[in-house]
Amino acid sequence: MKVKGKVYRTVWMEGSSVFMIDQNMLPFEFRIHEAKTYFDTCFAITTMIIRGAGAIGAAAGYAMAQAFLGAPENDYWNYVEQAKEDIEATRPTARNLFYAVERVFKAGKVSVEDAVVEARKIADEDARDSRKIGEFGNELIKDGSRIETHCNAGWLAFVDYGTALSPIYFARKSRKKIFVYVDETRPRSQGARLTAWELKNGRIPHVIVPDNAGAYLMSQGMVDMMIVGADRIAKNGDVANKIGTFEKAIIAKEFGVPFYVAAPTSTIDIKCKSGKNIIIENRSEDEVLYQTGIDKNNNIETILVCSPGSKALNPAFDVTPAKYITGIITEKGIIKPDRVEIKKLF
Ligand code: MRU
Repeated sequence: MKVKGKVYRTVWMEGSSVFMIDQNMLPFEFRIHEAKTYFDTCFAITTMIIRGAGAIGAAAGYAMAQAFLGAPENDYWNYVEQAKEDIEATRPTARNLFYAVERVFKAGKVSVEDAVVEARKIADEDARDSRKIGEFGNELIKDGSRIETHCNAGWLAFVDYGTALSPIYFARKSRKKIFVYVDETRPRSQGARLTAWELKNGRIPHVIVPDNAGAYLMSQGMVDMMIVGADRIAKNGDVANKIGTFEKAIIAKEFGVPFYVAAPTSTIDIKCKSGKNIIIENRSEDEVLYQTGIDKNNNIETILVCSPGSKALNPAFDVTPAKYITGIITEKGIIKPDRVEIKKLF
């Protein structure tokens, strides 16, 4: 994607360093973060300097490659095995992270060079698959469509293009008139901060809506379709995605609004029988209690926005049962969210 005329990927590797767009600074500042070791890359994933299923998958693959590059000769295998555990412990829900670490670990058993090549391959595949998702998803978008999306499943959440936003980029490219309702996506506001920034950057008409506006918008006939991303898809088609997705899916069904999930097949966990088996990450209550923004002088500030002394609960994802999902847009085509169709993909 282009930012101020220059083409960027969300994450990439140069030498033994991993570079990434610092998503904690967006939309206020565009800054590149360098992670010199696998420890640094783990820190970046945990603190969400890099976030989004595909982007953390690619970063985790690079982190595994960094571990092979940095392992001391006298303790080589202990070091890389510990690194694998550390990387896998950063964030539990997104399937792409585990998929990437496993692939690079396997390649690294052959040679360090193979580990690096495999990590790069995963990033390239992520960008290629996201592009295909855009092409397939574009077929579903009619001229004049008003689309609602939740969280950020754009190019920042992947290596390039994104998933839920990729069909929107392709629709725009094919000159369809579209309009996007962007759920703010509390507590971290990935919609209000990142999706809105991406769409503004791509000159796509949009408006940010409060998280609790979905039922009103749909009841008024203001939304033609909803497209969201996914962090892990179970074998039966249940989908884990950013907290708040499930209630949007229920509302969409109530008002007859088609509800699509866009995700590469690398997000499908064929060993996971149903959504009940998906681990939901619980994050710090501070993400609910505090908000970060800029003041009138453009200084970045973090302030308390809740009643002082109250505690908060912060489950980062929820699971939408397959029965609420109209279709899953993958790089291999659009499928129904059921066991038979999912099995055919593998
Ligand atoms: O917690 P995040 O920001 O890493 O959340 C993951 C996501 O980006 C969303 O759930 C998204 O909708 C899934 S597609 C990347």
